[in-house]
Amino acid sequence: VKPVRLALLGCGTVGTEVVRLLHEQADDLTARIGAPLELAGIAVRRPGRERGDLPVDPALFTTDALGLIKRDDVDVVIEVVGGIEPARTWLVEALRAGKSVVTANKALLAEDGGTLHDAATEGEADLYYEAAVAGAIPLLRPLRESLHGDRVTAVTGIVNGTTNYILSSMFATGAGFNEALEEATELGYAEADPTADVEGFDAAAKAAILASLAFHTRVTAADVFREGMTGVTAGDMASAKEMGCTIKLLCIAQRREDSVSVRVHPAMIPLSHPLAGVGDAFNAVFVEAEAAGPLMFYGRGAGGRPTASAVLGDIVAAARHKLTGTRAPSESNYAELTVRPIGES
Ligand code: HSE
Repeated sequence: VKPVRLALLGCGTVGTEVVRLLHEQADDLTARIGAPLELAGIAVRRPGRERGDLPVDPALFTTDALGLIKRDDVDVVIEVVGGIEPARTWLVEALRAGKSVVTANKALLAEDGGTLHDAATEGEADLYYEAAVAGAIPLLRPLRESLHGDRVTAVTGIVNGTTNYILSSMFATGAGFNEALEEATELGYAEADPTADVEGFDAAAKAAILASLAFHTRVTAADVFREGMTGVTAGDMASAKEMGCTIKLLCIAQRREDSVSVRVHPAMIPLSHPLAGVGDAFNAVFVEAEAAGPLMFYGRGAGGRPTASAVLGDIVAAARHKLTGTRAPSESNYAELTVRPIGES
C-alpha cells in the first residue's frame, strides 16, 4: 500500500512529540489507517541543531518550508510553528493545492480563520485544528461534528493552563500574582514572555475559535472582549475565598437568537461550580446545548505530548480521508451573527 506522506512544519515542543508519537505508534497507526504514515520532510529554521535522540533521519530537515509543501509526494501538511506569517502563506498554498492541513495555530485561526476555510473549500482539502484549543482535550471535533444536530447556547471555560496554574496557586497558598507567576515559570508552564497568557490574548484567540465552531459563525480575536488577570491581587483572592468562591480566568461565549457575545476576563465563581475545582495547569470547558444539556470537557490543555496527541488524531483523520477521497466537515456554510458588545443584553 502507498504510504500517506507528511510534511511537518516546525519541530519545537509540540513538533518533536509529534515525531516521537509517529515513531512509537507506527504499527498501530498503519493498522488503523490501512497505510503507513511517512515523514517526507521537516521544515525548521536551524536544520543542523542538536536534537538528541529524536527518532528521525537528519536528512529530512530543511529550511525550505514552501518547497516542501509544494512537493507532489506530500499529502498532509502539519503546522506547529505558530504566528500569523509565514504560516498563513504556507497553509493557504497547501490547501489550495488540495493538501490536507493539520494545524495547532490558534493565533492564525482566530485572526484570519476565514482565509484558511476559504482556501480549504477552494482546494477541496481537509483543515483540522483540534490542537489549537485546549491541547489534548477532544473538544473541537464534538463541536464540529457530534453536536451538529443540536443547538449550542453557551461555552464557558478555562482555556489557558498558565493562568489557571497561577490563579490556583494564589487560591491555595495566598501567594500574590508575581510570586505565583515565578513559580509557574520555574515549573516551565509560563513562557519566557508570559504576556499572551496573563493578558488574556491566548484565551481570547481560543474563545474566538470555540465561538465560531459552537455557533457556526465567524468570530475573530478582535471581536472578543478581553481583560487579563494581572490585576487580580492576593487580597481579591482572599475576599473571594471568604465568600465561598474562587477567581478563574474564564472564556464565556453566549448565543442569542441572531447574535453572540464572547469575552475573556477574571470571574469569581462559587466553589460548588464545576470549573472551580479545575486546578494546576488543566483546562476545562463547559458546553450547554439545547437537547444535550450540560457537557463538561476536562484535561491537559498545554504541553508538548498532550498537544501532540490531538495533532496525531487529526493526522489519522486526514490520512483516512486521503485514502477514501472524503473530506472533513466544511465551515464554509456559516451564519453571519452580530457580535454583541459586552453589557448589551
Ligand atoms: N500558553 C498556553 C497555555 C499553551 O498556558 O494554555 C497552550 O495553548
